[in-house]
Amino acid sequence: MGSYFGISTILVLCLLGYSANAEVFRVPGAPGSDITQALLKAFTSACQAPAPSQVLIPKGEYKLGEIAMTGPCKSPVEITLQGTVKADGNMQGKERWVVFEKINGFKLNGGGIFDGEGNAAWRTNNCHKTFECKKLPISLRFDFVDNADIRDITSMDSKNFHINVISGKNMTFDNIKISAPAESPNTDGIHLGRCDGVKILNSKIATGDDCISVGDGMKNLLVEKVVCGPGHGISVGSLGRYGFEEDVAGVRVVNCTLVGTDNGLRIKTWPSAKCTTTASGIHFEDIILQNVSNPILIDQEYCPWNQCNKQKPSTIKLVDISFRKIRGTSGNKDAVKLLCSKGIPCENVEIGDINIEYKGADGPPTFQCSNVNPKLVGTQVPKACSGGSAVMAPGSSS
Ligand SMILES: *[C@@H]1O[C@H](CO)[C@@H](O)[C@H](O)[C@H]1NC(C)=O
Ligand SMILES: *[C@@H]1O[C@H](CO)[C@@H](O)[C@H](O)[C@H]1NC(C)=O
Ligand SMILES: *[C@@H]1O[C@H](CO)[C@@H](O)[C@H](O)[C@H]1NC(C)=O
Repeated sequence: MGSYFGISTILVLCLLGYSANAEVFRVPGAPGSDITQALLKAFTSACQAPAPSQVLIPKGEYKLGEIAMTGPCKSPVEITLQGTVKADGNMQGKERWVVFEKINGFKLNGGGIFDGEGNAAWRTNNCHKTFECKKLPISLRFDFVDNADIRDITSMDSKNFHINVISGKNMTFDNIKISAPAESPNTDGIHLGRCDGVKILNSKIATGDDCISVGDGMKNLLVEKVVCGPGHGISVGSLGRYGFEEDVAGVRVVNCTLVGTDNGLRIKTWPSAKCTTTASGIHFEDIILQNVSNPILIDQEYCPWNQCNKQKPSTIKLVDISFRKIRGTSGNKDAVKLLCSKGIPCENVEIGDINIEYKGADGPPTFQCSNVNPKLVGTQVPKACSGGSAVMAPGSSS
């Protein structure tokens, strides 16, 4: 009896101890000071702790230099940023600012702000025009981070991408706010590649490049209740620019709103791709457009700044794609453009109910198709494949 009681008491104490005493490593630092070393030290302690623990960056504004918080850790780590951390204005040649890598069981939250101080860097950036350019740091990188919950944080004025996520599994991004001016180059909101099971929910992304861009190897991505704009919209791709790419499978974008973006819902692949891959199961549904240029766009001749050979058709195969319940206003007359590869036509593309208005003098809006024969469900405004280039069924001579 006594020993039975003893064991349960110990059990209860352990459970209580676990929740009450999850160790908190508070990052010391007077407001205005540089907390890089202090944060690294706190992270290292948390990462080595045998039980789940927390790193706390309290309210206030701090400087933060380049930092990599690298696991594997002994237990899950939570980082709570209540304050604002600011990057150095001049980080030319560096490719990253804040990195989380190789962590299994990770939380980032707290309502704080990562301020990339990108203003000076944007003026020197030409990476959108050439392959050879001076690198600028991505603000937040998540490399090989699994089972993660990232919520209630803001990224502003990144010098390059705001958030880059690669090779992660089971990650949720919820209530993320991203902001940079419309004219800031390469400031993609969230770029993802080679992850399985990522959710991006309830977020607001206003930036100078893609709102969300989906790179090769992405599987099972859900984007829900995200508002984009300004920026370049939501994009799968570009795919096929580099060799050794992996297939994309399973992308759902639902209940999102795009406001004043340069593109809406886009799938883009380079012609003369260096690889042959498939992008399949890409679905857009319940999307509201407000003054969005190129609202629905499949572009298999994506070749900005003539960096490719347009004569060779894209070798990326697009299969099982749908656009359903897409409505609102376009910023140009190209309401829908489905420009598939003449080498590998798109397969099983469904266009559901769409209602896209365009009021400009060069209207009415158009719906163009090439190398695709979309399956039409419900009603389409504008009328499908009536606005311009020839409709070619898959397999027809080209
Ligand atoms: C996914 O990650 C969350 C942590 O954010 C965790 O609670 C959940 O158990 C994970 N799911 C699976 C299937 O591992
Ligand atoms: C979008 O949200 C509405 C309202 O919550 C819901 O009824 C609908 O099923 C959602 N659409 C999708 C595709 O999830
Ligand atoms: C639509 O967006 C363009 C910029 O792309 C802007 O010049 C124009 O004023 C906007 N129109 C409306 C009605 O918001």
